Amino acid sequence: MKMDRLYILTGFLWLIAGMVFGVYLGITDQLQFANSHAHANLLGFVISVLFGLIHRNWPVLMASKLALPQFALFEIGSLVLVAGKYDIDGGGGGVLAPPGSVLVVMGTLVMFWMFARATADIKLTSKGAV
Ligand code: HEM
Repeated sequence: MKMDRLYILTGFLWLIAGMVFGVYLGITDQLQFANSHAHANLLGFVISVLFGLIHRNWPVLMASKLALPQFALFEIGSLVLVAGKYDIDGGGGGVLAPPGSVLVVMGTLVMFWMFARATADIKLTSKGAV
């Protein structure tokens, strides 16, 4: 599975959705939703693309059996968390925010584990793995 491409394409989808949402918020003056907009862009776009670039720079990670579950955990978690934030911004209880946060943290921990394990015996340089 080309995890680098999958992550970066998913990041672009988040960015397009986050930007369109931002334009909508600006035009309709609904700035109370800025927090969910920011999380869509930062978690969805910035972190997804960073994870994609990590896969790109250390392709050994793509061979991990955990790669696809990690992607699913992180992306589903981000979606659930942003939905919870949106609810909170709109004055609701944000019942989806806690489970979304847990999934996002779990996804990040799995990525940390994959990276730490896969690169343990690789010499890392500023130019990547050698
Ligand atoms: C077409 C592109 C974008 C538009 C039209 C847009 C629009 C907005 C608007 C209307 C706000 C609320 C400002 C306010 O409360 O006064 C905002 C806040 C914010 N945006 Fe964007 N945005 C865009 C792209 C992005 C991107 C790409 C990122 C991050 C990667 C981002 C991160 C943030 C952050 C961190 C805030 C502050 C959130 C807060 O105060 O809680 N935005 N944006």
